[in-house]
Amino acid sequence: MGLSMTDKVSVEDHYGRADLLGRLLARLAEHGIAETTAARADFSVIDQMHLRGHLGTEDVIAALALAPGMRVLDLGAGLGGPARVLADVHGVHVTALDLTSEFCAVSRAINARLGLDDRVTVVEGDATATGLPAGSFDRVVTIHACMNIPDKAAVYREAFRALKPGGLFCFYDAALGPAGEPYYPVPWAGRPAISHLIRPEAMAAAAEEAGFQTLELRDLTEETKAWSAERRAEATRREAAGEPPPLQSGDILMGDTGPEKMRNMGRNLAEGRVSVALGLFKKPE
Ligand SMILES: C[S@@+](CC[C@H](N)C(=O)[O-])C[C@H]1O[C@@H](n2cnc3c(N)ncnc32)[C@H](O)[C@@H]1O
Repeated sequence: MGLSMTDKVSVEDHYGRADLLGRLLARLAEHGIAETTAARADFSVIDQMHLRGHLGTEDVIAALALAPGMRVLDLGAGLGGPARVLADVHGVHVTALDLTSEFCAVSRAINARLGLDDRVTVVEGDATATGLPAGSFDRVVTIHACMNIPDKAAVYREAFRALKPGGLFCFYDAALGPAGEPYYPVPWAGRPAISHLIRPEAMAAAAEEAGFQTLELRDLTEETKAWSAERRAEATRREAAGEPPPLQSGDILMGDTGPEKMRNMGRNLAEGRVSVALGLFKKPE
């Protein structure tokens, strides 16, 4: 059935930003990375929109047992950072689907600049009703998108439908922690109404209901706390040394409330209000 127009507008309203590409390129330029020579790795500092950045992407990729030429579907692909790593480093073809028009436009523009547009196809659409052909992908991933999606079971059913028999599905997501509701705002939601967290075990149960066999459910909360602490320590060290802040795009992507969102994220992790989980599932042969 897919999302209502209200849900789509709420998600786009949360994520959409005016002149996003121009501002991201300007941020790279401030750090000495020229627009004309920026490589994929330069963009990867600002286009991995999930906890633990490229470390999280590497965990997902390591779980996927990829082979060159595979077809991979990324549900909620954002600016396309993980999709570009998959295509560029692992030689797969990626369909990068996202609900937010502006993210799709920026993702296409970055792909074209990097010459990856023949290996990453960007599709504007809803992860709960993609309209993509059944049985056409070897792997399906979703990274930090389901926090905004109330009907996670519908995403998992779409992943199951889109996969070939024997194909793998991996989610890497923020989930509800054992201590209950998070403090808001958080990076994925300015207010509770567009945040839909459930416990990791409930996510795995919904994937099994969609027909998947669970291969792994990994808790990455401690790794995320360590990553978060390292980022804070590095920012403090630079400030004390009079150095410029590290290259990041949090303020551009999260707006004026970015620092508050990140502070709340730290509190939520520390108090057990948010967990971080990776789930790996197989569609039976
Ligand atoms: C935090 S970003 C993560 C983007 C990307 N996966 C990454 O890790 O860099 C969440 C993304 O989910 C997308 N999203 C939310 N609900 C969606 C839906 N129902 N269908 C497709 N995309 C959705 C948002 O537009 C946003 O780009």
